[in-house]
Amino acid sequence: MKILVIGGGGREHALCWRLGRDGHVVSALPGSTGIASIATCVPGSLSELTAIVGCAKELAVDLVVVGPEVPLAEGLADQLRAAGIAVFGPSAEAAQLEGSKSYSKKFFARHGIRSARFYECQSREEIVEAVAQLGERMVVKADGLAAGKGVVVCSSADEARAAGMEMFEEGRFGSAGQTVVIEDRLEGRELSVMAICDGKRYEVLAQAEDHKAIFDGDKGPNTGGMGTVSPPSWASDALLDRVRSEILDPTVAGLVAEGLDFRGVLYAGIMVDAEGNPWLLEYNVRFGDPETQPVMVRMKSDLGEWLAGAANGSLPEGHIEWDSRAAVCVVLASAGYPESSSKGDSIEGVEEAEASADTVVFHAGCALGETGLETAGGRVLGVTALGSNAAAAAAAAYQAVASISFEGMQFRKDIGARGE
Ligand code: AMP
Ligand code: GLY
Repeated sequence: MKILVIGGGGREHALCWRLGRDGHVVSALPGSTGIASIATCVPGSLSELTAIVGCAKELAVDLVVVGPEVPLAEGLADQLRAAGIAVFGPSAEAAQLEGSKSYSKKFFARHGIRSARFYECQSREEIVEAVAQLGERMVVKADGLAAGKGVVVCSSADEARAAGMEMFEEGRFGSAGQTVVIEDRLEGRELSVMAICDGKRYEVLAQAEDHKAIFDGDKGPNTGGMGTVSPPSWASDALLDRVRSEILDPTVAGLVAEGLDFRGVLYAGIMVDAEGNPWLLEYNVRFGDPETQPVMVRMKSDLGEWLAGAANGSLPEGHIEWDSRAAVCVVLASAGYPESSSKGDSIEGVEEAEASADTVVFHAGCALGETGLETAGGRVLGVTALGSNAAAAAAAAYQAVASISFEGMQFRKDIGARGE
């Protein structure tokens, strides 16, 4: 198939890599330094939807796969479908499951899905009231898309009130902060479960655990994700069965009942509590980054066939096959991340890092400078390796990381390290 992937981060590099290996002819808009070595990169902007549709027509692709959430929320999938192009990605209406926290929380409540108790606040008084009701430990969320920065995990009522007021009054997130959701802070261990959905049925992908905090031991501020393990050994089949029956099944039934066109990835962010109950924190309506990196290196079935099936409203029969080995992705971030990021630092050693057949370095915030590869964003590279178990995969990933260097390079040393 001829497939156009929209985006240019580590997630899109992993998707292009998998699709290329499965024999598809892949283009990416805008692509990246890494994607350029395995696919054709087409210049373009993610905010120019009409131009993207034009590009898909010109390339006469069989399928468009949309990576990031913002173009989905803006209606890219709707526009492509209206032009008669098969697209893997939900409609703008369905993309609100990620695009609006209050929309998604109300959807969970309507369909009986276990999620933290919440209040939707649209005034100063409502914030004060919600905080008074919820106690001390809560999470404050700007309603709209805020590039992963609209969530503040709080340990006291004062902190929560301040976070809510800041979002609401100071417009820190622009229109994203005009509605604020305040909810109970759940404790437990996080799990990412992604499912490919054709609008009626879904197929769960290999599970992954994302480590979001910037420092070892899950310390420091949250980032977009500093490393992933697939599968996390603690996530049992029984837990996955509960995620299916208590979260994914009612979600898909709810989408159908409400007439929402969801042909894309339902990515459930799950918190597993001390008793082993799965709680739904959120949905994303696209592949996770950096979850996609280890999941793609483990996938043995033809990704293109599954994505095209979903896009056309009919998943293939049977199930996706997975490499029984584990995979670990270690993110290398630039100086200053997550508050800021450093650009233009020269990156050495990527080729050496990829010397082993079981290691792939996915590019994210990279650019090609005069002297070669350089940093161009917060999360720069995702060093991904397979191993017989998580500890072996982590050892292989860290061995590869040791050959890479750039000024101010930061990474966590504990991804998969406990063999989990
Ligand atoms: P969200 O965008 O809603 O997934 O939030 C981003 C991150 O914030 C999640 O991956 C969690 O680490 C954390 N988080 C969100 N909601 C909660 C909650 N109710 N309790 C504890 N942590 C949360
Ligand atoms: N890894 C978190 C995300 O993709 O949102």
